[in-house]
Amino acid sequence: MLTLGIETSCDETSAAVVEDGRRVLSNVVASQIELHRKTGGVVPEVAAREHVVKMIPVLDQALNEARCGLDVIDGIAVAHRPGLIASLLVGTNTANVLAAVSGKPLIPVNHIEGHIYSNWLDRAEVFEFPIVVLTVSGGHSELVLMRDHGDFVALGSTRDDAAGEAFDKVARLLDLSYPGGPEISKLAKEGDASRYVLPRAWLEGSYDFSFSGLKSAVARLVEAEGPHLQKAHLAAAFQDAVIDVLSRKLVDAAMEYGAREVHLAGGVSANHSLRETVEQRLKAALPGTPLRFPQKLSYCTDNAAMIASAGTFRFQKNPSLYTQNQLVEASTVFGF
Ligand code: KG4
Ligand code: ZN
Repeated sequence: MLTLGIETSCDETSAAVVEDGRRVLSNVVASQIELHRKTGGVVPEVAAREHVVKMIPVLDQALNEARCGLDVIDGIAVAHRPGLIASLLVGTNTANVLAAVSGKPLIPVNHIEGHIYSNWLDRAEVFEFPIVVLTVSGGHSELVLMRDHGDFVALGSTRDDAAGEAFDKVARLLDLSYPGGPEISKLAKEGDASRYVLPRAWLEGSYDFSFSGLKSAVARLVEAEGPHLQKAHLAAAFQDAVIDVLSRKLVDAAMEYGAREVHLAGGVSANHSLRETVEQRLKAALPGTPLRFPQKLSYCTDNAAMIASAGTFRFQKNPSLYTQNQLVEASTVFGF
């Protein structure tokens, strides 16, 4: 099955063609990072306007690189929620028009579900269920139990800032550029995490996360230390605090739900310390359980190949749901 994927939920305009949910024939991403660097974060209206300008050229390029026309595409998958509403409208509107003119099935995909399927891209092996997945990015920190294709149980979510959002906000406090995750992890390599003591919100008895207290603790330290602030040590201590909570909750959930595999997804899953810590803790708690993260960095951050993959598995599980040319609505609602 050849699936065209469309992703515009935040600040990346992306289109991709994926074969059978795994083989990426093209994955074009127009990033708005440079645009949002000026404001230190995404301004929703600016992001939406940029999607309007980039959508058609990105779509054209994705079909050209995959060497196929819309006529040979078997389905159109589009991220329809959650996200910034004005951004989502560009992608869903484009997909609706393409489906209307081509008569191809339209498959709405949850953006978090898309991130989860980023682990299927460029991989041939069959995964074993249940899988416990941590999706951590600029907009979300979601701990999910995947019992089968299309069968998701949300175990925990952030109660305030998403993990990547915390990285971005702390980076701003440390005068680092946007996006903050890669900057902080680079600086943290030169720092000693034990030099500053930062809090961890464990929220006992829950798989939810909270990072706003940690962000406030960093802000207070920056203020108190003034010119004596040791940025690299603070970056290391902050990164350690985030990873400590994420990795412990992920491994605890894997134990509780008898996970056969543990997956990481989303922009923050690019973080090497996170990968290493989860690997170590998983090895100690559930030896032999594989840890997977996306094969490429470009599959960690927002991209349309993951949307096409999720759409393919959805379609294949229940094709009759998508044969009619039903229009897709955009929505900001979280959950599956
Ligand atoms: O998945 P993504 O592209 O966007 C959303 O769906 O939100 O993730 C972007 C986020 C940003 O917050 C960025 O700071 C973070 O992922 N990020 C990282 C790293 N690389 C990107 N965070 C920590 N360490 C990294 N190496
Ligand atoms: Zn995302």
